[in-house]
Amino acid sequence: MLARDLGVSRGTVVEVYEQLIAEGYLTARQGSGTEVARSAVAPAQPRAEPTAEPTPRFDFHPGVPDPTSFPADQWVRALRRALRSVRPERLGYQDPRGTPELRFVLASYLARARGVATSPELVVTCSGFVRGLDLACHALRATGARRLGMENPTIPIHLEVVAAAGLEVVPLEVDEHGVRIEMVEASRADAVLVTPAHQFPLGSTLSPERRTALVEWATRTGGFVIEDDYDGEFRYDRQPVGAMQALAPEHEVYAGTASKSLAPGLRLGWLVLPDHLVDEVVAVMESFPGALDQLTLAAFLTSGGYDRQVRHARLVYRRRRDRLVAALLRRRLPVTGIAAGLHALVELPGGVAEEEVVARAAGHGLAIDGLGTFTAPGQRHAPALVVGYGRPPDHAFTTALARLGTVLRG
Ligand SMILES: Cc1ncc(COP(=O)(O)O)c(C=O)c1O
Repeated sequence: MLARDLGVSRGTVVEVYEQLIAEGYLTARQGSGTEVARSAVAPAQPRAEPTAEPTPRFDFHPGVPDPTSFPADQWVRALRRALRSVRPERLGYQDPRGTPELRFVLASYLARARGVATSPELVVTCSGFVRGLDLACHALRATGARRLGMENPTIPIHLEVVAAAGLEVVPLEVDEHGVRIEMVEASRADAVLVTPAHQFPLGSTLSPERRTALVEWATRTGGFVIEDDYDGEFRYDRQPVGAMQALAPEHEVYAGTASKSLAPGLRLGWLVLPDHLVDEVVAVMESFPGALDQLTLAAFLTSGGYDRQVRHARLVYRRRRDRLVAALLRRRLPVTGIAAGLHALVELPGGVAEEEVVARAAGHGLAIDGLGTFTAPGQRHAPALVVGYGRPPDHAFTTALARLGTVLRG
């Protein structure tokens, strides 16, 4: 009947039935006909995950750029350009270090924009800074490192990554000139992780004297510096200070990311390694960013789109920071740290409980972090908020600021 209805031969129908049975879509039992297999039922629509907390109206968590600022059209154009010229072998299994196209343009971009001393052979792409840190820690551990000095306060996930790689974390204090060198000297650490361009979350920059001292420590002791160049492209009051990597490329792992300049969801980052660590890093690599994403970023960099995006974002975030600082000053709340990045540290008056302000903010629909989120457990610190001003979209920024003002009024 089916053959007649469809106007095809009986043999075709029988063949299709046999194929569907073979693939498990139909079950056939002698004498009882053929049925749709139970397992062939379409999967139910996933139920919406119950969320523990209501979605905040305004998100002031630090370190995230405005998702509406992602240059989608230019990215699509870069993808098209990349696809038009893609070499067939790029769609096969890749060199774990990354596509040669991206490593080549990154090497020249980093030299030009951040003063990094490198060549494409020393560049390794990775899925964001966090994966780069993981790789660097595993590679350093494989070469005998056991202790890693880390700035305190810092971002908790980085502590977890370092510990998971089998390195002992030695907390290092930070002041307005960056990490304290006497603590590095006393740490007996094999390597240190620093954010010289813009300390996260205190917002200082590593002073020239301390940069020199840190490099001197590394060369004297055979130690390593992992430079998280987070925020390196986002300085507002002056030209960005170059990366410190060029001072001692043999003792530095330089790390950058597209998480701020483009979007964290891309999971695109890069390491610049000393020659002798490249093989060690490749040996511990398990996954890599996809070749098409890498080629798209390469095309985006080559076309000048990346530079334009950074310039534009710098302008937008600089204005936001200025507005935040002005609004807080009106409430006599000082913002500390240099004019850079996507977050600011706001000191709260003595006696004000940080957690209460954070809870009050949540009650007003604002997601915000206290400094305590980033401070080692049990460590005392002056009450402060770490205000990320990247996330709220432009059209909502005025309202978001007004809401923050209400929360801080108490
Ligand atoms: C201090 C610091 N470094 C780097 C990053 C970027 O990490 P990733 O590239 O994994 O997104 C972040 C993100 O918030 C950060 O806070």
